[in-house]
Amino acid sequence: MKFVIANDHAAIELKETLKNWLESEGHEVTDLGAATGESVDYPDKAVEAAKVFLAGGYDHGIVCCGTGIGISITANKVKGIRCALPQNVYAAAMAKEHNNCQFIAFGGRIEYPQSPVEMLKAYLDTEYGGTDRHDRRVNKIMSAEEI
Ligand code: RB5
Repeated sequence: MKFVIANDHAAIELKETLKNWLESEGHEVTDLGAATGESVDYPDKAVEAAKVFLAGGYDHGIVCCGTGIGISITANKVKGIRCALPQNVYAAAMAKEHNNCQFIAFGGRIEYPQSPVEMLKAYLDTEYGGTDRHDRRVNKIMSAEEI
């Protein structure tokens, strides 16, 4: 699969961990993230990743900042993006099964109960449920973009 990944200065190590794991699994990763400790603004990184994703050719986007909060909020403000900020492996799987999120966010300064790699794996190993009720709710999420 093809991934676009972006991060700010607070999640460089986390981004490297996720990227290395994805590449070791045979995935292709476009890295738009900060590579040095120099401070960058997470909204810029979220918008860059979202635009690249929406231009086509990618399966998923991954965005990381210190908490994952600012960068996921921003990604979700770009029309067409559904970005999850899961707390654990269960939520990461549900982000796909129930919400059909194409983006997932993590925090480089957060201590997760399971590792972000395990969470990412759960997200990727899970299929969208695709039932009428999930379709209806996901469509309602997307309709909220018009408010
Ligand atoms: C940067 O210091 C920090 O605010 C950012 O990485 C993120 O946690 C924001 O939500």
